[in-house]
Amino acid sequence: MSKQHWIHDTVLYQIYPRSFYDSDDNGVGDLNGIAAKLDYLVELGIGAIWISPFYPSPMADFGYDVSNYQDVDPVFGTLDDFRALKDQAHSRGIKVIVDFVPNHTSDEHPWFIESRASRDSPKRDWYTWHEPQPDGTPPNNWQSLFGGSAWQLDKGTNQYYLHSFLAKQPDLNWDNPEVRSAMADNVRFWLEMGVDGIRVDAVNWLSKDEQLRDNPPNPDYEPAEGVDPYNAQIHTYSAMGSHIFDYLNVLQDVVKSYDDRFMIIESYPDHPGDHSHYLSFYHNLDQTVTAPFNFDAIGLPWSAQAFRSSIGSYMEKLRPGDTAIYSMGNHDQHRLATRFGQESCRTAAMMLLTLPGTPIIYYGDEIGMHDTHIPPEFVQDPFEKNNPGHNLGRDPERTPMQWSDAPHAGFTTAEPWLPISGDYTTNNVVRDLQNPRSLLTLYRELLQFRSTSDVLRYGNFELLDHHEDVFAYKRMYKEKILTILLNFSGNDVDVDISAQNLVFSTLETTEFGGSLKPHEAVILTSDN
Ligand code: NOJ
Repeated sequence: MSKQHWIHDTVLYQIYPRSFYDSDDNGVGDLNGIAAKLDYLVELGIGAIWISPFYPSPMADFGYDVSNYQDVDPVFGTLDDFRALKDQAHSRGIKVIVDFVPNHTSDEHPWFIESRASRDSPKRDWYTWHEPQPDGTPPNNWQSLFGGSAWQLDKGTNQYYLHSFLAKQPDLNWDNPEVRSAMADNVRFWLEMGVDGIRVDAVNWLSKDEQLRDNPPNPDYEPAEGVDPYNAQIHTYSAMGSHIFDYLNVLQDVVKSYDDRFMIIESYPDHPGDHSHYLSFYHNLDQTVTAPFNFDAIGLPWSAQAFRSSIGSYMEKLRPGDTAIYSMGNHDQHRLATRFGQESCRTAAMMLLTLPGTPIIYYGDEIGMHDTHIPPEFVQDPFEKNNPGHNLGRDPERTPMQWSDAPHAGFTTAEPWLPISGDYTTNNVVRDLQNPRSLLTLYRELLQFRSTSDVLRYGNFELLDHHEDVFAYKRMYKEKILTILLNFSGNDVDVDISAQNLVFSTLETTEFGGSLKPHEAVILTSDN
């Protein structure tokens, strides 16, 4: 058998660096803080970390507005701190994936400062500039994802520039070969330093309609629920343009020029659950070094049938060698525990860690952190500030990691940058580590089991159908078979299944007698 890429052997863990651990007592997490917690990750069983942006940034979008792609923002530390973190991670067998933000820079990036300086600037064409319409309005109807027009008038030169996100995040013009080459250099910088991969941000917007045609209205948009005018349009012309794969290939070529690296694509389909969207990345890029996240779980209700149908049909479409990366949550989405309910977290953990592909855990989900209420005066996220009161803000899922019951949850000794959930005194890492029945203990045991199970890491997948409330599947590798049963309901459920031995239960069950307890998930085998 050919050598497996490390991505197939590993469990990823996403770190939002502002909120992981504060080593220098200023209320914001940092790189040395991550280094200080590497042993925690080793004991959890994590094989790779993805760190959200830590580059110099005015922090208008908390690091997704980069003003220098080749350095570290002082709030997070220094480049030497990053090198040390990477080395310490590697010495513990942990790979390091950095976030790469290709679509836009900060408006404080020297490229944009130069671009906006005059219409004749050599960097003018590095961004998308356009004349106002005769009545002074923006060139077309495209909307910023964070609210309002995607065009900002620059008074100095009396032209509009395009920003698919904040006005402080001008879109780079990837149609310009100089931009492509400069961005390839930025990726090379990190790979040369020894990072193991990149997570590529917001790729949908890399290529747009060259004629800048207006987007059509979205006939399914319901303004009554409608808090989000961005979705009043179908983004036919403002995203997913015809060159998107050419441009991603520029990045992929750099990744491929180094051994053993990987690239993960962040791309939400316009219609949640549209698998053709995800498949386009598998088919137009190289499956041996690239895969997209699958975000279906973000929008699904907690229902066995919904997951069965979504995952079943995705698995049918993936080819051998395609890496599934099911995302259950991240720094842009409400917490898993909030979306699915605290009582479902154990089943969700079992699902995440027994599906094919590379599991990814968002920091804090392993202790069941839920969305934290953020009073208006503490709101940080521009998405919430631009659309107040519509539950769009992302602060609730970005609150500091709850390490202990010490003040500020042991995250910092200063005032934390976001409020900490009030339940930290009872829900924290120290306490969970001491509790053999905690969610954290379950995660550790499942990760341990997965790391020794070829079936879970490399096995095929086959749907089973036992009960409407049970998502059931088999994993098979060589002669070995594991059966996984996930009870999504709060009821006891009888499962008609021939005698099987219990290998693992999310509850205290020691023997499988043909029925599942409420919210129970099990792994069974027919081996003796
Ligand atoms: C996706 C990132 O995950 C999100 O946090 C960010 O605001 C946008 N892309 C813009 O970079």
